[in-house]
Amino acid sequence: MPARCAKIEFVRALEILDSRGLPTVSASVVLSDGAEGSAGVPSGASTGEHEAVELRDGDKARYFGKGVRAAVANIEGELARAVKGLDAADLAGLDAKMAALDGTPNKGRLGANAILAVSLAAARAAAASAKRPLYAFLRQAYGIKSDRWILPAPMLNVVNGGKHADSGLDVQEFMIVPTEAPSFREGLRSGAEIYQILKKKLSAMKMTTAVGDEGGFAPRLKTHLEVLEILAASIAEGGYQGKVRLALDCAASEYFKDGKYILEGKPLTSAEIADVYASWALKHGIVSIEDPLDEDDWAGWKAMTAKLGDRLRLIGDDLFVTNPKRLARGIKEKSANAILIKLNQIGTLTETVQAVADAQKAGFSTVISHRSGETEDAFIADLAVALNAGAIKTGAPCRSERLAKYNRLLQIESELAGKASYAGSASFAAAAPAR
Ligand code: PGA
Ligand code: ZN
Repeated sequence: MPARCAKIEFVRALEILDSRGLPTVSASVVLSDGAEGSAGVPSGASTGEHEAVELRDGDKARYFGKGVRAAVANIEGELARAVKGLDAADLAGLDAKMAALDGTPNKGRLGANAILAVSLAAARAAAASAKRPLYAFLRQAYGIKSDRWILPAPMLNVVNGGKHADSGLDVQEFMIVPTEAPSFREGLRSGAEIYQILKKKLSAMKMTTAVGDEGGFAPRLKTHLEVLEILAASIAEGGYQGKVRLALDCAASEYFKDGKYILEGKPLTSAEIADVYASWALKHGIVSIEDPLDEDDWAGWKAMTAKLGDRLRLIGDDLFVTNPKRLARGIKEKSANAILIKLNQIGTLTETVQAVADAQKAGFSTVISHRSGETEDAFIADLAVALNAGAIKTGAPCRSERLAKYNRLLQIESELAGKASYAGSASFAAAAPAR
């Protein structure tokens, strides 16, 4: 560790509100040289069963039990005492100390929300102390040896269903992905233009253009195929056919009941629903499907990957919960070929970086992701660039908590002018061309 590293002097925390207006945790870490860093923790709605614990007060008199005053107190008490005096640049050491102090396998005692807030704020403070941009500091702090900088392909969630909206659609997210673009900036532009075209189309159909939790529209369309058709038409109208592709996040654990997948009211086995997805994918050139099956349907995932893995990126979100142990099983059993990465599913930056490294080593694609409940914190933009993750999922080009990440990427791209390239289709499978 460089000798000049500043030490953690004190830690503050606050109960703030997320993009849904529900409480979440923020923390600030101050170092001995005066450098300071803050971070806000996101929160999911379609939360995986196996995620690390988000500590909530349960006091029904405040925020319907969703307050986070206990997590805030844990930060300012036990965690602050434990990390005081630690070398701020030793992110792995700091995270290991906090996880050990918690002492549970799922960070259930002190709360993953409390631990993550300190983990991220400390990284920011250390980057400020080193006077380096966060993405560059993270790469150095974790000893990542790459001289290439890659801007991730944005996966823009433009139609919201499932738990994120009352559209009545089973599938939670319909995304557009600029797989062929000369730069991140131009890729984002194509996504934003298609979003506006989609809005006009929905209006013309007398559909609502009010948005769901991640900024996507939430029209009451009858079938999933109808959504895909409108999206394909919007892409074509924008002149981006073959350049912008479709992707889904089914969050299928939410429609898995008594051993069957209830899609559009019909109960299906995992093999049957795989055929439905395959037909959608073939018709509309879908490049990836996240959580097509339940989070514990390991056998179904394995069969689906054997069948469709050459054509589609099958992304484990609730399946893997950013947990290196669950990922190791998935790699061994060939359960999927990609992983969604969410910091608060595992609760420290270091374990998150480990999950990405393990996945990349195994040839899995990695997608750095927001949560449906977000803050203005754009940490994941820097993280995606630091790790050359190849893709980022952070909602529609709408609502500032989503745009904060995309705008940060624009800033990073301009800072790295001439030194960075755009990931484009690198993280996605060679899907059949859209018909
Ligand atoms: P969540 O949704 O943040 O509500 O879990 C995002 C996702 O499922 O990817
Ligand atoms: Zn998901």
